Amino acid sequence: MAALLDGKALAARVRAGLAQRVATLGFRPGLVVVRVGEDPASGVYVRNKDRAAQEAGFASRTLHLPAATTEAELLFTIAALNADGAVDGILVQLPLPPHIATEKAIGAVDPAKDVDGFHPLNAGRLASGLPGLVPCTPRGVMHLLAESGARLRGARALVLGRSQIVGRPMAQLLLGADCTVTIAHSRTDDLGAECRRADILVAAVGRAEMVKGGWIKPGAVVIDVGINRRADGTLCGDVAFGEAQHAAAITPVPGGVGPMTIACLLENTLDAAIARRGGA
Ligand code: GUN
Repeated sequence: MAALLDGKALAARVRAGLAQRVATLGFRPGLVVVRVGEDPASGVYVRNKDRAAQEAGFASRTLHLPAATTEAELLFTIAALNADGAVDGILVQLPLPPHIATEKAIGAVDPAKDVDGFHPLNAGRLASGLPGLVPCTPRGVMHLLAESGARLRGARALVLGRSQIVGRPMAQLLLGADCTVTIAHSRTDDLGAECRRADILVAAVGRAEMVKGGWIKPGAVVIDVGINRRADGTLCGDVAFGEAQHAAAITPVPGGVGPMTIACLLENTLDAAIARRGGA
């Protein structure tokens, strides 16, 4: 029977620890989440981020701009937040409306305030093994792996998915932890064979229950980043959870990686706040 990696409980512990640190700082780290338009899923995410930040003692606010906001207006808003000394972290919620170029918005955020870790400078720092702000979901996955007790050094890790937000930075973090890393994706010749070799399997491909039980090596640690909706409306991950009981440990969906993403957004905001004040 696979152990369940409870991301909800771990995230609560991480957030409680952050709240304690924030209480001793003498200032409140400032986070601004910028939302443009009315993407319904974004509304839920943004509210959850805001609530978690407030509960941990951060000065958090959401800037909700209308769907008709022009690219120039958004870039102007980001520039104002870059210049605002009370703002430590800026997160531009994705997706943006189609008339705004995502890479321009991401590239406009001051890398020192880029708590999503999406700016090319932070991505480059990560790929170069240099310190910087790291994307929240991969950072959360590293916490979950530490919690699992899995041996990372020398282990074969497979990252399924090559997105800028999860797959690529995830592979860099695992490499930094001395794993032997493979990145597989939807065009990989024999995905099953690649997965079956993995001691650590991180699925971030966005396809409901694509990873079958037979693809999972007995004793592997399985981290499921996917959040998909089945035809009947229920949520599921990228891994066929019911077939994965021969794994050593697995994250549930929901309640696995998702809560850790928010906890790590707060970690990044605190890191940015401390670094901006000279690394106290
Ligand atoms: N939309 C879905 N996930 C994310 C995320 O991690 N960061 C941002 N900015 N937008 C998202």
